[in-house]
Amino acid sequence: NDGAGVAQALLVWYDVHARHLPWRHRPDPLGQAPLPDPYRVWLSEVMLQQTTVAAVVPYFEKFTSAWPTVEALAAADEAQVMAAWAGLGYYARARNLVACARAVAALGAFPDSEEGLRALPGLGAYTAAAVAAIAFGRRAVVVDANVERVIARLFAIEEPLPGARSAIRAATDSVTPATRAGDFAQAMMDLGATICTVRAPRCLLCPLEKLCRARATGNPERLPVKAPK
Ligand code: ADE
Repeated sequence: NDGAGVAQALLVWYDVHARHLPWRHRPDPLGQAPLPDPYRVWLSEVMLQQTTVAAVVPYFEKFTSAWPTVEALAAADEAQVMAAWAGLGYYARARNLVACARAVAALGAFPDSEEGLRALPGLGAYTAAAVAAIAFGRRAVVVDANVERVIARLFAIEEPLPGARSAIRAATDSVTPATRAGDFAQAMMDLGATICTVRAPRCLLCPLEKLCRARATGNPERLPVKAPK
């Protein structure tokens, strides 16, 4: 697959069809802040682990109203943060959230590289890559479950998950652009959530239809294959 063609087609689509989610807001798109606030990006990515966008939005609004900056969250009472988190599940995420906010406040700001972010408490490889790309414009390879599905279909990767993860990662790397890597990652997520869905993908609306090997050779819906449990 031609990496530049994939990124170009996807970014053109994203400029029209991006979901307007509160953590994507750019305070000053043409001026000093062409990228969204790292605190809001990080908070959204932690909340979105194992939780849908629709469920996260009201919690995100509640948290950013109560604690508008990472310094405010660092100074928060942990019991109040846990209470505000109630209903989102996976409560270890909330405890890690406060620990991470305190580490960032001690540093003075979010680290602006994938490696620096990875060193923060509770930040895994996915979250570090996502924040580096979305909030800092770094070229990082961002793979979540939606991206896995889009890439498995685009490249017709027949190997079952989880074994296919390394091939999917390499294929994602090959199509990730040097600029707008954060938009590219979020475009892949939006495509997976709205077009390249698990069941009944809407291939006729897909900006990658002509580039998709699963579309050309068979039935995209059957990919990715999952190894039997
Ligand atoms: N899921 C995880 N991160 C996301 C993001 N930034 N936008 C949409 N869906 C996501």
